[in-house]
Amino acid sequence: MTSPRPDPRHDRPAAPGTGRCPATALYGPHLDGDAMPGLYEELRLRHGPVAPVTLAPGIDAWLVLGHRELLRLTREEQDFSHDPRRWTLLREGRVPADSPILPMVGWRPALLFADGQQHRRMRAAVSDALSRINGHELRRTVRATAERLISTFAERGEADLVPHFARKLPMEVITRLLGLDERTGQRLVHAIAGTVGANADSANASRRMGEILGQLIEDKRRTPGNDVTSALLGHPARLTDEEVLHNLVVMFVAGNQTTVNWIATTLRILLTDPAFRSSLTGGHLTVDDALDLVLWRFPPTQNFPARYATRDLSFGGQDIRAGDMLVLGLAAANADPAVLPGDGRPVIGNRSHLAFGAGPHACPAQDPARLITRTAVDTVRHRLPDMELSVSEHELAWVKSPWSKGLAALPVRFAEPQLPATPPASGSPPPVHHPPMPQPAQHQGETR
Ligand code: HEM
Repeated sequence: MTSPRPDPRHDRPAAPGTGRCPATALYGPHLDGDAMPGLYEELRLRHGPVAPVTLAPGIDAWLVLGHRELLRLTREEQDFSHDPRRWTLLREGRVPADSPILPMVGWRPALLFADGQQHRRMRAAVSDALSRINGHELRRTVRATAERLISTFAERGEADLVPHFARKLPMEVITRLLGLDERTGQRLVHAIAGTVGANADSANASRRMGEILGQLIEDKRRTPGNDVTSALLGHPARLTDEEVLHNLVVMFVAGNQTTVNWIATTLRILLTDPAFRSSLTGGHLTVDDALDLVLWRFPPTQNFPARYATRDLSFGGQDIRAGDMLVLGLAAANADPAVLPGDGRPVIGNRSHLAFGAGPHACPAQDPARLITRTAVDTVRHRLPDMELSVSEHELAWVKSPWSKGLAALPVRFAEPQLPATPPASGSPPPVHHPPMPQPAQHQGETR
């Protein structure tokens, strides 16, 4: 990839590799969350299905906007690797140590950064551990957690469902799935947030994260429990302790913010979309339809880093060089006119969106993530049946990020909360089955 050359008209660097067209910045004060869909269409018109972008000053990449191209990017590992150690900018020392992109793409011995056999080995362990989650128990855990969170603000008659509900629930549920108690779970949450925050405290936060997870692994090796960590440790793939630790980090980071966004955006649809409001009561549309609509229109991760070209190749009309970074444009691919019906509305019941990625790295947690989100949303609907927005719809803003598609706030009011007669139990049964470990098996979400 060549060095970016400034374009005086756009104040943007030149396109990676070719220097033919100006690359578009996916960051900066002009890009609020509402501007992103328009930007994707502008890029599609100007460049076609693969567009040159910059992710931070000096960090150029390709954004893959086409649905067909994204399927190729995710399925053809021999051309597009997951291993960031192939990235030319990184190998040439051109990524500043404090670059916000580094915590997302820095290599770890975990499935997200591996290809081929090495990936399949870790993936088998992660998929099997996730497939043993007991759906009934998970639903009970989520409902109890949701009811407890709602009870903290029910008397006030108002709440902001992003900080008071959506941002709290997945992290509590996921840390519990991993086998942590509530307090240690909170400490882990802070440590991981600090680690991926790329600031002065990152090194300390990373050390704390290592200590907490190291202790968890030691405890679970000694006394296995009904949790994902014990399932990983006991898997025939024989992951090392270091691999277990980093795969736990990936699960937490990949699962937390995405589920926060999915919950909050689905609640927004139910509060603001008149078709959903009336149809849900009339029974024509279901909460699952609203969940799918979000995955089509507002995928919780709008862009996902990354793949690295393994050779020079022509792709989507662009000349890609070995070592170039390619970003998965999940939101843009979902909006590709080639796959949407003429009126632009996604078909209800159609799940060919790319919100979970595709190919061998497609999200292995689609079933538990849906169960967590559906149960969380259902619990809010049942406990706050007269809930309505307390601001107008156009005041709802998206978080400013090229990666995450999440609401900044969702203020609501309600008059008659329907709380359970007895307060929800704090400790419901563990949500993971612990039968004898099966051999590595094919798992849900791996078929696309
Ligand atoms: C309990 C919640 C979740 C967990 C534990 C989880 C876990 C994971 C893991 C371990 C991976 C890496 C897979 C691999 O490299 O083989 C992954 C990938 C991914 N997940 Fe999830 N996830 C969760 C929820 C979600 C949600 C709600 C979304 C969005 C709707 C999502 C979207 C993705 C995407 C886009 C990828 C990347 C696919 C790729 O690189 O091709 N995940 N997830």
